[in-house]
Amino acid sequence: MDLHRLEIDLLLAIGDGREYETSELTKKTNMSEDAVVKAAFWLEEKGLAKVREETQEFVELTEEGKKVAKHGLAERVILEKLKDGALTTSELGLPPAVVNFALGWLKKKNWAELKKKDGEMLLEITKEGKTALEKKGEDELAIERLAEGNVSAEEIGDIVPTLQSRQLVEKTTKTERWVQATKEGLAAASEDHETKEERVQTHHIRSGGWKNVEYRKYDVTASAPQAMMAKLHPIQVVIDRVRQIFIEMGFSERKGPMVESSFWTFDALFQPQDHPARDLADTFFMASPEKSELPEVAKKVKAAHEHGCCGSLGWGYDWEEDIARQPVLRTHTTAVSARTLSQEEAPLKMFCIDKAFRNETLDYKHLMELYQIEGIVFDKDVTFKHLLGYLKEFYRKMGFEKVRFRPAYFPYTEMSVEPEVWYEPRKSWIELGGAGIFRPEVVEPLTGKDYPVLAWGLGLGRLVMLIYELDDIRVPYRNDLAWLRGVKLWQ
Ligand code: PHE
Repeated sequence: MDLHRLEIDLLLAIGDGREYETSELTKKTNMSEDAVVKAAFWLEEKGLAKVREETQEFVELTEEGKKVAKHGLAERVILEKLKDGALTTSELGLPPAVVNFALGWLKKKNWAELKKKDGEMLLEITKEGKTALEKKGEDELAIERLAEGNVSAEEIGDIVPTLQSRQLVEKTTKTERWVQATKEGLAAASEDHETKEERVQTHHIRSGGWKNVEYRKYDVTASAPQAMMAKLHPIQVVIDRVRQIFIEMGFSERKGPMVESSFWTFDALFQPQDHPARDLADTFFMASPEKSELPEVAKKVKAAHEHGCCGSLGWGYDWEEDIARQPVLRTHTTAVSARTLSQEEAPLKMFCIDKAFRNETLDYKHLMELYQIEGIVFDKDVTFKHLLGYLKEFYRKMGFEKVRFRPAYFPYTEMSVEPEVWYEPRKSWIELGGAGIFRPEVVEPLTGKDYPVLAWGLGLGRLVMLIYELDDIRVPYRNDLAWLRGVKLWQ
């Protein structure tokens, strides 16, 4: 049989058939305890030895428990002081925290009676207290025993929980193992064991000597400890892929502030100032900063809202600068698209993957912080068909072959659609966000151009749920190590 050096040594040590405790074997073989245990289990797997385990619970004193073992329980210290007559709490001469704590136990053990005297507590020893002066309690006896060394939990018995609740003791476990050779093991022990090489050495390769060396075979089916390698967060993997897809399609990434003005979040997107989406119910308004800056184009946006532009009549109300200057946590990353449009020239293909915030009630499919995948294409001759093509291509590259579009409404697009993908495991269409062509009332004030702008804002959370087959969107955010370690990263 092909045995490891450690296995051979151990087998020889138990070759007389006796059962040995692992610590005995450590001495006998000069191997570490770890190596003995490892080799014992290997031998057991090969049927050459039997390993017997016994786990025992021990109780040991905590640091606090050791102090008590030296100075006595707080209630004992006070009891001793009450021997010669009643004392008020201040006459005890002990720190108030200690006194307060001990009072509870004095009462519980019925060692002292508490009376009020001049706004203070007077402590008087009881009959039980006097008896206790002569005789230690069960808890105190246990502490004395423990001070001499660890004791098994059974020996101490019922008092353990009480001592544990006072944080005087803690439980530890110790596993003892005994190893004994089986019949096959005994036979193997008496065989000759020429040791084979464990691993390929550099000099074997250099000299070509490996051709003549006999190496020990590896047992690739042997159990090994689970390797916990560093890995990316499952959501990061999805984000990275989305980013890569848009870069492949010729887009470049932009960022914008999370604390954003109402102007870029709503006004620049031609949402009237009394639009319900601005409601406190959906939007987190910021107390600080107090006011946001407005850009130059605010004048043109104001004009578009009040009396329109580019053939539109506008909303016909008085646009207020103060409302546009209210800072919010951006409710969508479309604010980044609006900013970018006002700063850059056509042709432009940009995307943004980032967080948006909404005042949602947290549940299995809603978070208050959500990742959005935003994108725009700003160019002279792009059309609605291109928009559908980009979305279809994006989802196809994400692994969703079947995509369909439902007509939709957004205040800043015309036409508008909601893309949906087919999710085979649930046999249903899943809605994934919004898209459309920005209205001229959005584009013209920001860019001075009457080009179409294809735009989308897609949810990332839903995609993450579909990819990792989650039925609760909160799962990846729980920092649940067991889940994070176990989850198979998407690729
Ligand atoms: N901003 C919209 C949302 O958050 C999505 C969207 C973006 C719709 C761009 C149309 C165009 O739901």
